[in-house]
Amino acid sequence: MFFATADGLRPAPLTHNPLNALVMPRPVGWISSISAAGVRNLAPYSYFNAVCGEPPYVMFAPNSAKPGVNKDTYRNICEVPEFVANLVGEHDAVPMNATSAPLPYGQDEFTACGIAATASTLVRPPRVTSVKAALECRVYQVVHLPPGPDGRESHVVVGEVVGIYIADEVIVNGRVDERLLHPLTRLGYMNYGTLGEVFEMQRP
Ligand SMILES: Cc1cc2nc3c(=O)[nH]c(=O)nc-3n(C[C@H](O)[C@H](O)[C@H](O)COP(=O)(O)O)c2cc1C
Repeated sequence: MFFATADGLRPAPLTHNPLNALVMPRPVGWISSISAAGVRNLAPYSYFNAVCGEPPYVMFAPNSAKPGVNKDTYRNICEVPEFVANLVGEHDAVPMNATSAPLPYGQDEFTACGIAATASTLVRPPRVTSVKAALECRVYQVVHLPPGPDGRESHVVVGEVVGIYIADEVIVNGRVDERLLHPLTRLGYMNYGTLGEVFEMQRP
């Protein structure tokens, strides 16, 4: 099939917007942020990725829950333009999912979901203690996408990675062993995946 998105995102026989199931697997950035008042926030974002290795930049995209109502993470980074992208492993799947609950603004998911935090080195939001890697970021730029037909806004938050935490146990012979990270990947719908086979291929 082929369809123009201007005609809608769910033409028959599709029952759901297919984009999440086509652009995958996506890593899960478990984003910690903090308000000006010092209240911590933690939420997963799979519209998340690295955009440049050197210089090191990442992005995540918080969309609004309803028109004019922005996600707590977005509100926080507008107040304190820093965040930590905690990289989610299989062992953190259940607590990560728990932090996606729409808690009222000002409620701390670390406390509400019983998740241990460790102070960051260069930014104010803490990292999740249990993750094997985390990126301490300062907001570089926010791109505002045009609202969708339902009026909901989406923002692309680009962050400069100013500090990188890596658990020593996943570094082998000077390299991060991806297998030891056991990354959780986001697929379409409510599906998740794991890493599977790893193979090497040199470039021409
Ligand atoms: C695995 C996963 C990935 C998600 N990815 C996104 C995303 O990329 N953008 C987004 O706006 N919401 C995403 N969500 C939903 C948010 O996590 C959810 O709306 C959460 O309540 C936002 O929290 P906050 O308001 O504290 O920032 C995702 C949820 C899950 C479970």
